[in-house]
Amino acid sequence: MSALTILSLPNELLIAIAAAGQEDISTHSSTAQKVEWTLSRLCRRLRNTVVGAPTLWTKIEVSCDRLKDLAHSQRFSEILRLYLRRSVPLNVAVFLRERVGDSEPLTDWIIQVAAEINRVKWLSVVLASAEDDFTQEFAPLRCLAAPNLLHLEIANISVESTGRRPLELFSAGARKLSFARMYGCFPSPIPPWVSTLTHLQIENGSHQHFHSAADEMIYLSLIRTQPISLVYLHLDISMNFNTLPTDYQIHIPSLEFFAVYIDDTEGQEYLRDIMDFVDCPALTELVVIGSHGDQLLFVLNMSRFPRSSFPVLRSLSLINLDGCSCEQDMPHPTRTLSSHSTPLFPALSSLVIINHCFTPQLVKEIMGTEALPWPSLRTLTLCPSENISGVRSAVGDAVRQTPQSIPILRLSRALLFPLDWFEGRLDAIEVFDPEEVVKPFSGY
Ligand SMILES: *[C@@H]1O[C@H](CO)[C@@H](O)[C@H](O)[C@H]1NC(C)=O
Ligand SMILES: *[C@@H]1O[C@H](CO)[C@@H](O)[C@H](O)[C@H]1NC(C)=O
Ligand SMILES: *[C@@H]1O[C@H](CO)[C@@H](O)[C@H](O)[C@H]1NC(C)=O
Ligand SMILES: *[C@@H]1O[C@H](CO)[C@@H](O)[C@H](O)[C@H]1NC(C)=O
Ligand SMILES: [Zn+2]
Repeated sequence: MSALTILSLPNELLIAIAAAGQEDISTHSSTAQKVEWTLSRLCRRLRNTVVGAPTLWTKIEVSCDRLKDLAHSQRFSEILRLYLRRSVPLNVAVFLRERVGDSEPLTDWIIQVAAEINRVKWLSVVLASAEDDFTQEFAPLRCLAAPNLLHLEIANISVESTGRRPLELFSAGARKLSFARMYGCFPSPIPPWVSTLTHLQIENGSHQHFHSAADEMIYLSLIRTQPISLVYLHLDISMNFNTLPTDYQIHIPSLEFFAVYIDDTEGQEYLRDIMDFVDCPALTELVVIGSHGDQLLFVLNMSRFPRSSFPVLRSLSLINLDGCSCEQDMPHPTRTLSSHSTPLFPALSSLVIINHCFTPQLVKEIMGTEALPWPSLRTLTLCPSENISGVRSAVGDAVRQTPQSIPILRLSRALLFPLDWFEGRLDAIEVFDPEEVVKPFSGY
């Protein structure tokens, strides 16, 4: 379409076309390529139309990604100001990214956002600043109420990740907030808006890096003392059971997804402990990061959990991101599975085991026995990091011995190579890319 044809259209249509051309914020295109920006520079008629259409200025993205951008940080502040002005009176989504490690531009951006907070429905801030005084940049938001905020995301992706920082935000409330993701920092003290969240994700600063045990406890007591409607909970904190009351459990009736981290120093019983800690009867998906093969063997050998039950758990994923040397350091476990009169996981259909020690033994237990703790298992996903040939032969044995009862296998490519080991029965196997499974839990 030539510019002339465009100009013969009525304004409403022009605006609709421009709006349709706007990209999703997540594509991170630079300001220069944005459709509202381009159109507002073409000619006066377009400019007046576009500038006068607040709806075209409601997706605000300012990102200072490269060092050379820093020299123009003034310009980013101007752009933010312009979008905030042109979008009045509509609600806005604001995405601020400062990845070069200088907090100065951010300070000004936050001040601007604070002034318009009543209109902010999405707020996402990514920063890489290594400044020590974490709370400084966010101070303008500390005591505010954010009455229209639905979605909040704050990520500190600074490489020298020495520990999560407490961050106080919107302490006067954010009554519509349903999604909060904090990466490299955590909300403290417990904000009033926790009670409306359906999604809470607190990540990074490896597990031992909470400032003190007290910080960890904040989250546990939060869950215990507030009425909570969480459906999705991802907590990258280490839970020190020694400091908890012995009858302690996380009780969240609405919870469907729970991802939790295990510190690498924990012993054989820890997976049991952490699962027994979960009292969430609606839970359908559990992801444990950092578990080990011997911990799973311990669970498999139990006839029941002391307190917990998982009546509707469909998916259990055990992911070790770092690997371990247990197979060299510890004696190989002998067969352990005792029979299960009542299944531990009656509804489990998918079991994912990534990068776990003793995977050959696990395969033997999971595939080679009648007394399964999960009568409904359909899919077993395996990606071992060591003893690939041991895993291969364990799988092959199980298939030869009990061919009718084996679940569908999803194997990593490494496990499949060489292609002929499975005696021509490759059609029974799906290949999967472990990266897909691991990615949501391994960085921002
Ligand atoms: C980001 O994290 C780094 C490393 O933990 C920390 O030193 C810094 O204070 C944080 N930056 C901000 C602005 O919070
Ligand atoms: C935390 O983030 C830093 C920087 O992005 C990364 O190097 C580190 O591996 C992350 N740690 C964890 C436990 O995710
Ligand atoms: C497995 O459980 C049985 C019965 O509870 C117990 O006797 C046995 O010692 C356990 N095996 C291991 C290796 O823990
Ligand atoms: C690999 O697994 C097999 C099968 O369980 C076992 O016999 C063997 O000792 C393991 N090898 C190593 C190096 O751990
Ligand atoms: Zn291990």
